[in-house]
Amino acid sequence: MLKLGVLVSGGGTNLQAILDAVDHQVIKTAEVGLVISNNAGAYALERAKNHDIPAVCISPKNFENREEFHRALLDELQKNKVDLVVLAGFLVAVPPMIVEAYPNRIINIHPSLIPSFCGTGFYGLRVHEGVLDRGVKVTGATVHFVDAGTDTGPIILQKAVEVAEGDTPEILQRRVMEEAEWKILPEAIDLIANDRVQVVDGKVRISR
Ligand code: GAR
Repeated sequence: MLKLGVLVSGGGTNLQAILDAVDHQVIKTAEVGLVISNNAGAYALERAKNHDIPAVCISPKNFENREEFHRALLDELQKNKVDLVVLAGFLVAVPPMIVEAYPNRIINIHPSLIPSFCGTGFYGLRVHEGVLDRGVKVTGATVHFVDAGTDTGPIILQKAVEVAEGDTPEILQRRVMEEAEWKILPEAIDLIANDRVQVVDGKVRISR
């Protein structure tokens, strides 16, 4: 059984999609063992507690400097023997210290079709604002492994979503979540938990 450590910052609808997939046995060989939020007010923490899953807040505000905050995050993951780290709306840059401890063992969901609308400054609603400002007709979501860069790691799954006339960032965000994020994030976890994902020359191969 693969033990997931899910890192969150906000509402936690992607965490909920993972919990639902485990409950409904869409994911059979992984379980959520730990939820960490950098934000004490994150509703995602309530979702974890409602499922009797250990949920902790590790906030940078409680540490003298960034390095101590990063060390505390890593300690919590290691103490709980997490196998796969899942960034599910975690709006903190993951430092090299953690990336190096979990090579190709950290995945992230990003609400666009990478390499569009990603990188520094593109997170949450800002991504969808960028999409609407540019006027693209198709957007979507991407699950990728996390490497040292921002949204640069090997791509595991992507799903396209149409932009509609009259979309606001909020409406588009919801459609991207419903049609793409909540599907491909559990799917990627299931693939990894079943040992079907390999990284070869920086690219993901999925065995069917
Ligand atoms: C999601 O749309 C996720 O893709 C995005 O934050 C939202 C979190 O929602 N993540 C990023 O922008 C990361 N760059 P949630 O808390 O309801 O899952």
